Formats: sequence, C-alpha cells, structure tokens
Amino acid sequence: MSQLERTLAIIKPDSVARGIAGEILTTIEQAGFRIRGLRMLRLDRRQAEGFYAVHRGKLFFADLVEFMSEGPIVVLALEREDAIRKWREAMGATNPASAAEGTIRKRFGTSMQRNCVHGSDAPDTAHFELGYFFRESEMV
Ligand code: CMP
Repeated sequence: MSQLERTLAIIKPDSVARGIAGEILTTIEQAGFRIRGLRMLRLDRRQAEGFYAVHRGKLFFADLVEFMSEGPIVVLALEREDAIRKWREAMGATNPASAAEGTIRKRFGTSMQRNCVHGSDAPDTAHFELGYFFRESEMV
C-alpha cells in the first residue's frame, strides 16, 4: 500500500458565501479523505498575495487576490494515499466549463476564477501551503 500523503485544500469565498461549504466537506469525506486540520478564516490582501505568490505578475493576479480576500474561506489539511493527485481529480479542471462531470468545480464552479476550491499541485507546494495555515501540532 502506498504512503499516506497530505495536501492543502481551500473552500473559497464563493462557496462559503453560497452556503455550500458543508456539501463540499461531505463530498471530501465521502471521497475517502481524512480531515486532519480545519479552520475558517478571512485572508487579508497581503496574506492572499503571499499564498498565491507563485502567480504574481500574471494577468489574473490582482483579481485573484481581490476574490480570495472578499470573504471567509475554509482551509483544510487532507490526508489519504496519493492525496495531492486524488484531491485535484475530485476538484476537476481549473476552468469549471472544462471540468469532468461529477467533479466539485463542474458541479459548483461559475468561472475560471470563482471555481469553488483550491488544491496543492505538487509535494513541495503542499508543504508550503499546509505550513501557510497550519502548525504541525494543529494537524491531528
Ligand atoms: P487555483 O487552483 O486556486 O489556482 C490559482 C487560481 O487563480 C485558480 O484556481 C483560479 O481561481 C484563478 N485564476 C483566474 N484566472 C486564471 C487563469 N487564467 N488561469 C489559472 N488560474 C486562474
């Protein structure tokens, strides 16, 4: 059996505002992830810029920072085998219009930007992103 892995998931402001955070949490649990950490918070602009620093300079960066700081989010440390890949599969493609049927972004996403959820894309980004929100002792 392969090793357990952790990834960072975010339920974005659009989802929390629409009252579908609970439905997304249910989907996450039913898909076989263990929730090891969970917090609700609101990013300020500087925190959103820091989290998405890798996208600084891109055309969508300013709008992304605006969006991610517009309201509360839920951040999650998810665990299972192959968690990074499996969570990206469950989310679907960045653009909800081209996401596979049944994925979270297909079901709930409304645009490339307001795409409901985020997930780390590789082990090094998962390490950075988990550390951005959770101390080791807060993942239980
Ligand atoms: P996420 O997976 O959180 O990573 C970066 C985010 O930027 C992405 O989801 C979208 O919410 C947002 N975004 C907006 N426009 C684009 C774009 N053209 N390409 C990629 N991401 C975009």
